Amino acid sequence: MKILVTGAAGFIGSNLAEKLAMRGDEVVGFDNFNDYYDPAKKRANEVRLNQYPNFRMVEADIRDRDCVLKLFEAEKFDAVAHLAALAGVRNAVKYPELYIQVDYNGTQNLMDGARLNNVGNFVFASTSSVYGDTKQIPFVETDSCDRPLQPYAAAKRAAEILGFTYHHLYGLNFTATRFFTVYGPNGRPDMMAYLVADSITKGREIPLYEGGQMWRDWTYVEDITDGVVLALDKPLGYEIINLGRGEPILLKDFVEMLEKLAGQKGNFVAMPKISADVISTYSNTTKANELLNYHPSVSVEDGVTAFWNWYKKQEL
Ligand SMILES: NC(=O)c1ccc[n+]([C@@H]2O[C@H](COP(=O)([O-])OP(=O)(O)OC[C@H]3O[C@@H](n4cnc5c(N)ncnc54)[C@H](O)[C@@H]3O)[C@@H](O)[C@H]2O)c1
Repeated sequence: MKILVTGAAGFIGSNLAEKLAMRGDEVVGFDNFNDYYDPAKKRANEVRLNQYPNFRMVEADIRDRDCVLKLFEAEKFDAVAHLAALAGVRNAVKYPELYIQVDYNGTQNLMDGARLNNVGNFVFASTSSVYGDTKQIPFVETDSCDRPLQPYAAAKRAAEILGFTYHHLYGLNFTATRFFTVYGPNGRPDMMAYLVADSITKGREIPLYEGGQMWRDWTYVEDITDGVVLALDKPLGYEIINLGRGEPILLKDFVEMLEKLAGQKGNFVAMPKISADVISTYSNTTKANELLNYHPSVSVEDGVTAFWNWYKKQEL
């Protein structure tokens, strides 16, 4: 298949693009290499991907509608995995307009490119953040998700809804896969696993919200990319599907796993959680099991060890 992977220079996108390139798909990456975090990390991902002759990167912005539409017309993709986004929850509180422009309007540009060129399947990277402060635990796709706590979640939820409209009007196959706290090699430096590792090894002071009494359904990046590949290979009309491990772990325990591997303590400062954040995330994975035969297989212990081994090579 010829597949467009947006956000291919990023954490999950680069892991996904590599997986697709390895199995022989023709992969076109798309990324604007923005500086939300150090773009050198994105360049390193690009170098890794450029080893594959069936991969190439287009450096452009999903907000550039003309560019997006021309690309779709020229390339005739079979499928799209749309992962490009501004993804920082706390940053979204500072820049709501930007998040709507990128995460909603940018997504619409890609959906237009797809429907005007008869792309067979559109898989959208959504997020567990759309569940907000729901009382339905574990989080299940039938929840209305109409109380997002910050603009990032609101933009992602709005894009999921627009996906239904495009399916209804234009017959676009659209699957929104909702990722739960992803971690692993090539991880994002603004996310907890990386911050904790930086705190342990470099003494950097980082906030520990609620004394670590927050649950996250940590999901190893390979399990996430496996789920996205399953969704790419199976057009389903219109679906929303959780991709999570389904076994939440306390933040405090996650931190302790890394401290144990490193043999040192982190430098934490206690903070209450901010109002844009939730106390727990927990994925109901029944739908993913049934529709995609999705079975996340990496335990948090094994995943944290793999992350730590990767981190040591990069940073120490
Ligand atoms: N990491 C997680 O735990 C998590 C959880 C839920 C959902 N997601 C979603 O997964 C996707 C990938 O997230 P990630 O953690 O790999 O983040 P990331 O920031 O590493 O990757 C996103 C990539 O998109 C690119 N991008 C941003 N704006 C762009 C634009 N206007 N035009 C072109 N490219 C642009 C960035 O340069 C970056 O390389 C995102 O859609 C995110 O919302 C991530």
